[in-house]
Parts: sequence; structure tokens; C-alpha cells
Amino acid sequence: MALTLTKLLLFSFLFISTVLTAKSQLSTSKQKNLTRFHVYAQDKNTAPNATIVNVAQASTTNQSATSFGLVKVADDPLTEGPEMSSKNLGRLQGMVTSASQSEVAVLMSINFVFTEGKYNGSSLTVVGRNELFLEVRELSIVGGTGLFRLARGYVLTSTYSADLNTGALVLLYDFFVYHY
Ligand SMILES: *[C@@H]1O[C@H](CO)[C@@H](O)[C@H](O)[C@H]1NC(C)=O
Ligand SMILES: *[C@@H]1O[C@H](CO)[C@@H](O)[C@H](O)[C@H]1NC(C)=O
Ligand SMILES: *[C@@H]1O[C@H](CO)[C@@H](O)[C@H](O)[C@H]1NC(C)=O
Ligand SMILES: *[C@@H]1O[C@H](CO)[C@@H](O)[C@H](O)[C@H]1NC(C)=O
Repeated sequence: MALTLTKLLLFSFLFISTVLTAKSQLSTSKQKNLTRFHVYAQDKNTAPNATIVNVAQASTTNQSATSFGLVKVADDPLTEGPEMSSKNLGRLQGMVTSASQSEVAVLMSINFVFTEGKYNGSSLTVVGRNELFLEVRELSIVGGTGLFRLARGYVLTSTYSADLNTGALVLLYDFFVYHY
């Protein structure tokens, strides 16, 4: 009994000191910086080579003016400039769910995966409400990997251009991200 208690106390001590050490390393050895940059997502909802596809919907979605209940999955190229031919930086990948019965608004749960440029190998995770007909929408940056470990911040997005014939959209994402 006494032995078990001693072990338990020792374990708690080790655990707490590990947590404290990790915490002080984070707060003393590195400074949190705000990084601002933007990318463009090339989104296309028609064949050939659609980059966003419908995967599920409710039995009532077709009767809804806001497509309530529709779930899409996207894998859009990210480019440095608005032209498809500009430098490729990675992909926007994730789920887009029509989640409002009264506005055209989606829940976005997406990753920005960088495979070129100075953020190559890093990613940012963005979750938030995107009301598509507003000029500027704001989503939360909830985390990241690589250079963006422990990221927090927000991203402003707007529609740069829309081609109604081909269903091609160019979306601007302007990031304000705190990370170590
Ligand atoms: C579709 O993708 C294929 C393979 O990448 C490519 O060869 C073709 O040119 C693309 N078509 C269009 C219309 O973009
Ligand atoms: C909804 O509309 C789509 C496209 O017009 C059609 O393919 C689908 O079968 C419809 N679904 C229901 C449940 O009516
Ligand atoms: C991006 O990173 C990967 C993996 O580290 C590497 O193989 C690739 O060459 C890099 N690409 C560029 C353009 O730096
Ligand atoms: C943050 O800024 C400080 C001071 O300019 C710098 O020393 C540090 O390397 C920066 N950290 C990152 C992750 O860029």
C-alpha cells in the first residue's frame, strides 16, 4: 500500500515536471510571430477534372433554396497568383457542408497543404462558417503542422473571379497566423 502510494507520488512528480519543462521551453526559447500571406485556390465543380465533388445530401436538399444538407469534398490547387498558370504552392483539401437553412452558408473543415515555396512540408487547418455571398468571409485557423505548429489565427476569404460557364472559381485566402 505504502509502496503503491510512493510510486504514485513519484509518477505525479515526474509527470508534472515534464509538463512544466515542456511549457517553459516553449515560452522561453521561441517567440510567437504573426505571419501574413495569401494564396489563391482554383476551384472547379464541373467535369472534366472537377476539383470539388458532391458526396452526400439529405432527402430534402433538392427542395432547399440553400442546398441545406449537401456535403462536398474539395481538392483544389493552391497558386501564388490568381492565374491557374502561376506558381503552384500546394492543395486545399477538405469538406464543405451546406449547414444553413436560411443563408447560402457552409461549414468548411479544410487543410491547406503546402508542397512548394517557403512553407513546403507545412500545413494549416481551417474551420469556420463561410457565407458565400458576402464579399469577405472570416474563418478560424485552428492549428497547423511543420512551421505552423501550434498555429492560431484567422483567414479572410473572398471570391476573386467566377466563370459561370465552366464552374471555375478563383478564391483568395488571406492568412493572419500566429505560430512559433
Ligand atoms: C484534365 O486532366 C488531365 C490529366 O491531368 C489533363 O491531361 C487534361 O488536359 C485536363 N483537362 C482539362 C480540360 O483541364
Ligand atoms: C436531387 O437532384 C439531383 C440532381 O438534379 C438528382 O441527381 C438527385 O437524384 C435528386 N435527389 C433527390 C433525393 O431527389
Ligand atoms: C518540398 O519538400 C519535399 C519533402 O521535404 C521535397 O522532397 C521537395 O523537393 C520539396 N519541394 C520543393 C519545391 O522545395
Ligand atoms: C520570431 O521572431 C523572432 C524575432 O524577430 C525571431 O528570432 C524568431 O526566429 C521568429 N520565429 C519564427 C518561427 O519565425
